[in-house]
Amino acid sequence: MGSRNGADIKLVETERRSESHLTPIEPLEAPSGILAAVGGTPLVEFNRLYHPSNFRVFAKLEALNPGGSIKDRPAKAIVSQEIRAGRIVPGRTTIVESTSGNMGVGLAQVCKYYGVDLICVVDPKTPRPILSVLRTYGAQVDIVTNLDSETEEYLPSRLRRVQELLDELSDGYWPDQYSNTLNAAAHVNTIREIINVLGTVDYVFCATSTCGTLRGFFEYLSESGLTTELVAVDAAGSAIFGNPACRRLIPGHGATIVPELYRPDLADAVVHVTDRESLIGCRMLLGREAYLAGGSSGAVAAGVAKYAHRIRHGATCVIILPDRGERYVDTIYDGSWVAQHFGGLREEEISWSSLERAGTC
Ligand SMILES: Cc1ncc(COP(=O)(O)O)c(C=O)c1O
Repeated sequence: MGSRNGADIKLVETERRSESHLTPIEPLEAPSGILAAVGGTPLVEFNRLYHPSNFRVFAKLEALNPGGSIKDRPAKAIVSQEIRAGRIVPGRTTIVESTSGNMGVGLAQVCKYYGVDLICVVDPKTPRPILSVLRTYGAQVDIVTNLDSETEEYLPSRLRRVQELLDELSDGYWPDQYSNTLNAAAHVNTIREIINVLGTVDYVFCATSTCGTLRGFFEYLSESGLTTELVAVDAAGSAIFGNPACRRLIPGHGATIVPELYRPDLADAVVHVTDRESLIGCRMLLGREAYLAGGSSGAVAAGVAKYAHRIRHGATCVIILPDRGERYVDTIYDGSWVAQHFGGLREEEISWSSLERAGTC
C-alpha cells in the first residue's frame, strides 16, 4: 500500500462516554418471517484488496440483508418500534420518507410486511432499478425534480415535499432518518455483531449520510469502553464535516445538511472521498475480491487506502459495505455513464496509487 500526504484526512479529538443515549430496540414479536433475516450479515476477510499491506481487513457485507442494504436495519427498527408504541397503525397510517434509495427499499419491505402505506420522496439521482423495486413492493414514488435554489441540491426540496405530503395526510408519519435515534440504535447491533466475532478491532471504516451508522457505533463503543478507532468516510463536497460543497453524483454517502444525529466527537478521523475515487474503489473491490459493490462501499474501500499510512502495523480493520452493485450497473459500472460524467476511467487508473491523482472534487 502506498502512503499519502493526508490532505483529505481530518483527525478529531474525541471523548467517549460510558453510558449510551440510545433506547435499546425491542423486537415487536418472536423472530419469524422475512424481517427475522435483517442483520446477522456475513463478516469476511478481504485479503486481496490491499495486498501487500501490513494490516488485516474484514468486510461486513450489509448487502446480504433481505432488502439489499444496511438500511434494512433502521427501517425495521423504526417501523416495528413505532407500531409497538401505537404511533404507526397498519391500515391507517401512511409513512412518508425522503430517501436516496436504500432507506426507501428497507421501508418498502417492512411496510409490505406489516401492511402500512408508504410514500417515498426521491429525486432524479435515485437509481432507476431502485424506483422499480420500490413500486414493486407497493410503495408510492414521489419524484422531486427541482434543485434547491440555495444549495443546488435535491435534499432540501425532498424535505419540503415530505412536509407538504404530511400536511395533506390525516395520519402521516415521518421516520425522519436524519434525526431519529432509532436509526442509530439499530446499528448498535451491527457493531455488536462485529465485536462478537472478532473480539478486538482496531479500526472501523464506515460511510456517512444520516450518521445513523456512525452514531450507533460510537454509542456502543463508548458504552463498552472499547478503544476501536472510528473512521468516517464522507463524500468530498458533503456538508456533514464542514467540507466545501461540490457536485456529487454517487448516491448513498454524504449529505447536504448536517444531520441531527451528528455530533462533533462521533468519529476519530474523517476521510473525504471524491466520486472518482469511489469509482476506483468499486472497481478494486470487483477486480481484487470479485465483489460487485455499491458506490459508498467503493468510497469506504478508497477511504482505507487513503488512510493506510496512519494504520498501525498488524492492525485489524473492519470496513462496512452498505449495499451491492446491481442497483448501479447502468451508472457506476456503465462505461458510457462514467465517460459522460467523469470523462472515462482508464484501466491503468484502477489502482490504489492512482487515488493520489484522482483530484479533490
Ligand atoms: C448505500 C449507502 N451507503 C451509506 C449510507 C450512509 O449511512 P448512514 O445514513 O447510516 O450514515 C447510506 C445511507 O442511506 C446508504 O444508502
